Amino acid sequence: MGKIPPGVGPKDPQVVVLVGATGDLSRRKLLPGLFHLSSTGFIPGCRIIGVSLDEINADAFREIAQGALGQFSTRKVKEADWAAFAETLDYVPITAGAEALQAAVHHAERKLGGNSRRVHYLSVPPNAALPAVRMLAEADLVERSRIILEKPFGTDLRSAVSLNAKLHEVFAEDQIFRIDHFLGKEAAQNILAFRFANGLFEPIWNRNFIDHVQIDVPETLGLGKRAAFYEATGAYRDMVVTHLFQILAFMAMEPPTALEPAPISEEKNKVFRSMLPLDPRDVVRGQYTGYRSEEGVDPESDTETFVALKCSIDNWRWAGVPFFLRTGKRLAEGQRIISIAFREPPKSMFPAGSGVGAQGPDHLTFDLADAAKMSLSFYGKRPGPGMRLDKLSLQFAMHETGMIGDVLEAYERLILDAMRGDHTLFTTAEGIERLWEVSIPLLEAPPPVRLYPPGAWGPKSIHQLVAPHAWRLPFERAWRDPNATGA
Ligand code: BG6
Repeated sequence: MGKIPPGVGPKDPQVVVLVGATGDLSRRKLLPGLFHLSSTGFIPGCRIIGVSLDEINADAFREIAQGALGQFSTRKVKEADWAAFAETLDYVPITAGAEALQAAVHHAERKLGGNSRRVHYLSVPPNAALPAVRMLAEADLVERSRIILEKPFGTDLRSAVSLNAKLHEVFAEDQIFRIDHFLGKEAAQNILAFRFANGLFEPIWNRNFIDHVQIDVPETLGLGKRAAFYEATGAYRDMVVTHLFQILAFMAMEPPTALEPAPISEEKNKVFRSMLPLDPRDVVRGQYTGYRSEEGVDPESDTETFVALKCSIDNWRWAGVPFFLRTGKRLAEGQRIISIAFREPPKSMFPAGSGVGAQGPDHLTFDLADAAKMSLSFYGKRPGPGMRLDKLSLQFAMHETGMIGDVLEAYERLILDAMRGDHTLFTTAEGIERLWEVSIPLLEAPPPVRLYPPGAWGPKSIHQLVAPHAWRLPFERAWRDPNATGA
């Protein structure tokens, strides 16, 4: 990591109240992320108070944090850095109540001195968000604070509207940060750079040149220890109404007037307003075989562990262009791609058998992995006599810039932005409510779940959904290895 540029971190020290501190997300991402941000100096002083239902003390919480760093930190954890970080951790069980939490925060503030600010991070399921907000209010911790709320934000339109209203009784809108970590991914922000910092692609970024779009996020992961959360949530609420639609907005929105929160949100919300309500006939829900016998899962569960759907954005730019979205657990591969298929040429002068069009349309592909990649595929001539065409590609791998070490993990980036009060990469109440609104037909009449074997790409009916097109994954041609020298 090079020198930290000025302005990327907050000016003031921060007290973080981490609610859900012993949960899966906290251990995988939040504790390792806060450790990295603190130990590299992004935050000028930080103390963390873990809060959860677990009846443990601060030492036990430190042990959990140490275990989490050992298991999930992607960077080397130096002994001295860990010791310094451990000293900043404290813990309050929920049962100890608001007064104990207040005392812990005041203690942390005294330790930090000066004008510290508070960040409340609610890493809890939707039904636990309001009780946590009430506890913060009772503990009088709203002043000088910001609150980060994990998705999904509500479970349908009614609950999201009510959550927003109740939240506003305690926090002002500019204190609220609704997080969607896909927007913090370096590669997601690169969609904005790619589209709006270049003159090359924007003129063809519309229905006249683009045939269809796929946003495909298959995961090999299963439930882990999240059965209770997942049973009540399912793949649609966990991934689509959140991450996949947010990425779709970056891909589909009009150029914002400035790279600032209000103009960006406005353009994203226009995309959501133009989305047609989902037609349940355009949705495939799946469940992997064996899910129902997992611990914590109802033996008759109807929760989907997979969802694929077609949606439409009915505006001048996108009318008639289908957007296909797919995600699920225990699938064949873990990938996060956006694939844009261009229209084929209106006439072909190439003789039959030349191979033109034989390998599908030209594609622009974004891989949203931390080590992001992009590829533009096109037909070119195979060297030698005659005119045989092959699918070739221009590829870019972030890896090649030599700056991959500077990439902040999505949560790190967003926590830092929230600490600075920057809403640019956060979602808005209006956008979220509209997404629940387009979801109504699906939530009211969900198609039955179809079984798929673990390690597959979903139930068989996914092919009908996308026909006459085909799913881009699994890739026919693998990404080129940027380190390969070529023979
Ligand atoms: C989370 C979902 O928000 O995103 C998980 O709750 C999912 O179910 C995860 O596995 C995927 O995120 P990433 O960054 O690993 O692609």
